[in-house]
Amino acid sequence: MSRERNTPLRIAILTVSDRSAAGERDDLSGPLLEDLTRQHGWEVSLTGIVPDEGEQIAAKLAEWADGGQVDVILTTGGTGFAPRDVTPEATLDVIERRTPGLVEAIRAESLKITPHAMLSRAEAGIRSRTLIVNFPGSPKACRENFEIIQPVLAHAIDLLRDDPGSEAGH
Ligand code: MTE
Repeated sequence: MSRERNTPLRIAILTVSDRSAAGERDDLSGPLLEDLTRQHGWEVSLTGIVPDEGEQIAAKLAEWADGGQVDVILTTGGTGFAPRDVTPEATLDVIERRTPGLVEAIRAESLKITPHAMLSRAEAGIRSRTLIVNFPGSPKACRENFEIIQPVLAHAIDLLRDDPGSEAGH
């Protein structure tokens, strides 16, 4: 199945946060990523909030990727060094192929903004025809991460869908 050219990317956003999942803190990063997605003319297909529990994160990522309704899943939160930061491990549990270039680019560009970028253990990879990318939890970091990868996302998905016209994007 190839993505029809010029159709909007379908983006799902998963917030990973114990406090937001418990309703103890407003989720600011998920809605921000929704806004950024729409500002780029893309669709927000699915949104959700899960606590920092590896099995719940992995189950949601697998469900969304296998459902065939999303091209990209952006996660926010749980990439740091705290004991309950397990989003990267949950992501590695479900992806079939890693996409290190994306996280290398995010870290390289983010380090120009803050040395704290070294503290994100974010991963990215492909499950079936869906690209999964981890972002940190703060709205500031989400905005910066989104702007870093957004220029390559449409071409990435064309390649993932094995779209014969994708050469035009090189
Ligand atoms: N990356 C960018 N671009 N901008 C930021 O402000 N914050 C860092 C880092 N990556 C940051 C960033 C900080 S302070 C931390 S602790 C790690 O992401 C992990 O964040 P998380 O635990 O909320 O996922």
